[in-house]
Amino acid sequence: MTSWLPWLDRQGRFSGLRATAFALVLLPALWLAFDAWTGQLGSKPWTRAVHDTGTWAVRLLLVTLAISPLRRILDWGKLLGIRRMLGLSVMFYGLSHLLLYCIDLGFDGGLIVSEIVKRFYLLVGITTLTGLIALGVTSTDGMIRRLGAARWQRLHNLVYAITALALLHFALQSKIDVTQPALMAGLFALLMAYRLLPRLGVTLDPGRLALIALAAGLLTALAETAWYAFATGVPAWTVFQANADIVVYGEWAALRPGHWVAFAGLVVAAASLFRGSGARRAGRRPRQRERLSPQAGG
Ligand code: HEM
Repeated sequence: MTSWLPWLDRQGRFSGLRATAFALVLLPALWLAFDAWTGQLGSKPWTRAVHDTGTWAVRLLLVTLAISPLRRILDWGKLLGIRRMLGLSVMFYGLSHLLLYCIDLGFDGGLIVSEIVKRFYLLVGITTLTGLIALGVTSTDGMIRRLGAARWQRLHNLVYAITALALLHFALQSKIDVTQPALMAGLFALLMAYRLLPRLGVTLDPGRLALIALAAGLLTALAETAWYAFATGVPAWTVFQANADIVVYGEWAALRPGHWVAFAGLVVAAASLFRGSGARRAGRRPRQRERLSPQAGG
């Protein structure tokens, strides 16, 4: 029987990985509740809560998307067992985000609807949330059976478009500083490369993973530069040059989104090297790459 308790696996046994993942996805909500309880949310607590839940929805969305590629690259099959939980947590943070927004606007239905219709970034937000709900409600075993694996997979492939919309919503609502959206977009590009390149016949060995990391970092820096140049009129070269500030100032604060994206990709490359050499030392071949099946716990 499939267990619905988040810390149990499909066989009903306690799973340390699932328990840890569950605790980690709850943590931001508990943290926010604690800050609210102790009055640490500043002068506009509801607005701050809207921002925090939105940011966590996007972060968890990217973590969810990272599960399949990391499972393959790190040959870590058990990761799939936390994918559905992570996906559902994105939907819950998204719904809390909307609820907090409604509270912030005093549950004034007319005002909420007129704001959403008037502002493009809110229309993008509601479309994103509708997509997340559609994926969330069809993520049960019963729905997978009812839809059939192929149709279910086609529907759930929408997650990439939904993520792109979430990132657009994030970038559009940003005032002048797009550091966070640029970072998230760069990580999304990295994850898309992990997904698409194997389909083109490229094997993701540690060397190629390192190259992909550097390319994704550069792409992020260029995309960030383009955004500032076109959306704010800041001279492109000045923005791009900021990527060299780390050499001049040597401070963490000088790290740009492109550096973080390259760093994340290099960590994955190093982990893949480590896992590969570990498997070779233990005399076992990396496991056969099974095809992604929805029933696998995702
Ligand atoms: C009905 C749907 C949604 C509404 C009405 C909505 C509304 C808002 C509002 C009002 C803000 C703050 C804008 C500002 O202060 O100028 C915001 C920010 C944000 N939203 Fe949404 N949103 C929706 C859906 C989503 C979804 C589904 C996600 C993610 C999956 C998301 C992610 C974000 C992020 C990341 C921010 C920026 C947070 C920050 O700057 O710290 N939103 N949203």
